[in-house]
Amino acid sequence: MSVLREIHVLTLFPDLFDGFLRESILGKALADGRLAVRLLDFRGFAEGRHRSVDDVPYGGGSGMVLMPGPLVAALESLPSGTRKVLLTPQGRPFDQAAAVRLAAQERLALCCGRYEGFDERIREHVDEELSLGDFVLQGGEVAAMAVIEAVVRLLPGVLHNADSPTEESFAQGLLEYPQYTRPREFRGREVPEMLVSGHHEQIRRWRRKEALRRTRQKRPELLARLAPTAEDRKLLAELDAEAAATGAARPRIDVALVHHPVRSRTREVVATSVTNLDIHDIARASRTYGIDAYHLVTPITAQRELVQTVAAHWLEGESGARVPQRADALQLVRTVPTLGDAVEAIRRETGTAPLVVATAADAHGRPTVGWAVLRERLAVESRPVLLVFGTGWGLADEALDLCELLLEPILGPTDYNHLSVRVAVGVTLDRLLGRAR
Ligand SMILES: C[S@@+](CC[C@H](N)C(=O)[O-])C[C@H]1O[C@@H](n2cnc3c(N)ncnc32)[C@H](O)[C@@H]1O
Repeated sequence: MSVLREIHVLTLFPDLFDGFLRESILGKALADGRLAVRLLDFRGFAEGRHRSVDDVPYGGGSGMVLMPGPLVAALESLPSGTRKVLLTPQGRPFDQAAAVRLAAQERLALCCGRYEGFDERIREHVDEELSLGDFVLQGGEVAAMAVIEAVVRLLPGVLHNADSPTEESFAQGLLEYPQYTRPREFRGREVPEMLVSGHHEQIRRWRRKEALRRTRQKRPELLARLAPTAEDRKLLAELDAEAAATGAARPRIDVALVHHPVRSRTREVVATSVTNLDIHDIARASRTYGIDAYHLVTPITAQRELVQTVAAHWLEGESGARVPQRADALQLVRTVPTLGDAVEAIRRETGTAPLVVATAADAHGRPTVGWAVLRERLAVESRPVLLVFGTGWGLADEALDLCELLLEPILGPTDYNHLSVRVAVGVTLDRLLGRAR
């Protein structure tokens, strides 16, 4: 495998790199001669008396755009085989995996934009686009420095301790375990006993478990992407059991089935009728997956009374005595006039306003949260959670606006997307709460 030997930085502000390249591990790597960083001011490739590198955007608009000529000429002056990276907020987010990948290139070029960014045709002359994150910097130089620092510390011999890049955050798809150093006690807070025990294997296991715990708490989406080992699965089960023992296992989770405001086939806001099937089947799914209450939302008094009558039939009557499992499910049924009332009821009972999560067959351009991310979040969420389902042709905007998150639609391999709400509830509860055998 090759190792990075040369980084070219294409920038209009080479002086910004002065101190950065002199200091610390980078200064050392450069002094050792194991790595060369070459700053290339692409203004030198501009033509004309003024050596302009930017011009006004076609079509109008504010600011100036980098012209393709100088930057592309600078890129073409680089040695062949150089991996060319454009730094842009439109790129793939830079992460540890990208750092590892770039550290294995022999030559790397980092193109720093300025002003309003790059003429679109520049993109055709690079191998990839990277972003430092979802924010806009004044120029690509700080992003280039971040990439250089993350990459250079991975090069052999740059760090004193050869192990550290494989141990730390992200190296294994997890955040790093908690670290402690002297003193053993600081303001009443002791270093965990395990770390001073001297049992190396137990310490390794403890650290892995804490890395899992911490990632679940702080970055559940990373955990959702992890391919867990058999040991990870065991450790995650231990974390679940610990949480259960402290009563913090899982938040209270309720389900709401909204009959108003929902959309009709012609997208008008309407109220739908409650159905016996929805009362029974969603109550049974709720009971199976440990839902705390099932709220049927309808502003129509007669409809709420109907639901109460059906539930009472199974709870109080002869049928309840005959089929106790059904009574067990139907005792979860509540009726409320509005979704806001369901939210308020949960707040009153728990003292905390719930995290309200909507579901939809089509997000209609609204941002959504992924299944795995919500599943991990439920493991650490301290607020109660209300999962909201719509009847008819889905929740109307007034209902969606009350929800903090919108869950990704359930999609099959076909483009037919008309699940009954009962099936949608079943799939959702299983994806979020189901246990593998
Ligand atoms: C003001 S920004 C231009 C942003 C551009 N108008 C856009 O919306 O994509 C100027 C330059 O800073 C750099 N830059 C800004 N934000 C960045 C980020 N998050 N990651 C990497 N580079 C960034 C890029 O090189 C960009 O061309």
